Amino acid sequence: MMKVGVIGCGNIADIYFKNSKQYFNNFEIVACADIKEEASKSFAEKYNVRQLSVDDILADNEIEFIINLTIPNVHYEVSKSILESKKHSYSEKPLSIEFDDGKKLNELAENNNVYVGCAPDTFLGAGIQTARKLIDDNSIGKVQLGSISMAVPGHEIWHPNPDFYYQYGGGPILDMGPYYFTALVNLLGPVANVESKIKAVYEKRVIGNGDRKGQEVKVDIPTSIISHLEFKSGALIDAFFSFDVWKHNKNHIELYGDKGSLNVPDPNMFGGQLLQCTSKGGEWESIPTSHMNLGKYNIEKNHERINEDPTVANYRGVGVAEMINAIGKGIKNRCSGELSLHVLDIMDSILESGKNNKKINLRSECEMPQYFSEEENNTLLKG
Ligand SMILES: NC(=O)c1ccc[n+]([C@@H]2O[C@H](COP(=O)([O-])OP(=O)(O)OC[C@H]3O[C@@H](n4cnc5c(N)ncnc54)[C@H](O)[C@@H]3O)[C@@H](O)[C@H]2O)c1
Repeated sequence: MMKVGVIGCGNIADIYFKNSKQYFNNFEIVACADIKEEASKSFAEKYNVRQLSVDDILADNEIEFIINLTIPNVHYEVSKSILESKKHSYSEKPLSIEFDDGKKLNELAENNNVYVGCAPDTFLGAGIQTARKLIDDNSIGKVQLGSISMAVPGHEIWHPNPDFYYQYGGGPILDMGPYYFTALVNLLGPVANVESKIKAVYEKRVIGNGDRKGQEVKVDIPTSIISHLEFKSGALIDAFFSFDVWKHNKNHIELYGDKGSLNVPDPNMFGGQLLQCTSKGGEWESIPTSHMNLGKYNIEKNHERINEDPTVANYRGVGVAEMINAIGKGIKNRCSGELSLHVLDIMDSILESGKNNKKINLRSECEMPQYFSEEENNTLLKG
């Protein structure tokens, strides 16, 4: 049982605390910290863990591993301080906002002989892993083409403090892109180059929930991005990301191979149903994943997205459990610094391409993570 601390006790923290207790057998969250004392106090009380200052959690001898759940534009400084304390660091996505900072985190981890990991871990779930198995088994042939889409009216309709989504470091690419690009790199391998167009439809957004309901947030960044990605494998994928769409009817990820088509479920979730067609113009065959370890429904939610199921599987934290297992065995973790740096490179290059209106060749490479089998994930789960 590795003793784990959490820095950043906001909106997403609860699912990490909850899932760590309920599902995973190799780590225990024992303390939490936040720059806002009341935030860490409420989690410390709810989950009966120690409330510490950020400095104290970094210095704590019992804690070997810290989960960084702060906002994106401080991920770098917080992860850096964790690694400098010679503790393993797993941060929420993205790894950092700047590519060079992400690179520095990987170097620091290597120099200090500790691991670095980064969300999303949704690609370890039943939906994306089933897609991976189908592609590895050549069910739809070699993937040649595809399309991805993430379009919502904007997180300010539910998030009580949505400012960071509309500031430098936010936006649909850096916020939601990690789910889609991590899933795609896991399915198709690394990206070679990207080309994009960007725009912002609204200058201001209105907070729709919480104490600040009705307040306006200024938009400093592009909120819609349309890109083309060329993968090293030769696959061409068109990507649509937007916080400006009131409603739509597009699928999350569709992949077209030279022997069939595959509709991959939401990469922001762990389960979901796949659709496969292996005859020209034929019927879709439905492939459920709700019987699998990381696909079983465990959450009911009302989501504004039309293609979102009301019941979903959420096993956030499995990336932490997988990383702790990798640390124990001295092998590479799947939600690795290398993978998240490549994903950051994709996202940074997409935005840069849109800004400067030119094709960008990526700076980084990465290996495809190994397939994550039921047998393997079962070893990390409580019986
Ligand atoms: N909210 C979600 O549904 C969701 C889902 C998946 C991933 N994420 C990711 O999780 C991260 C956090 O998102 P959130 O929605 O929980 O944000 P949030 O604003 O609700 O919470 C962030 C917390 O971090 C604290 N914090 C900020 N800077 C800090 C610092 N330097 N040191 C210590 N604490 C600091 C804040 O006080 C706050 O309590 C983001 O990277 C986001 O992309 C969020």
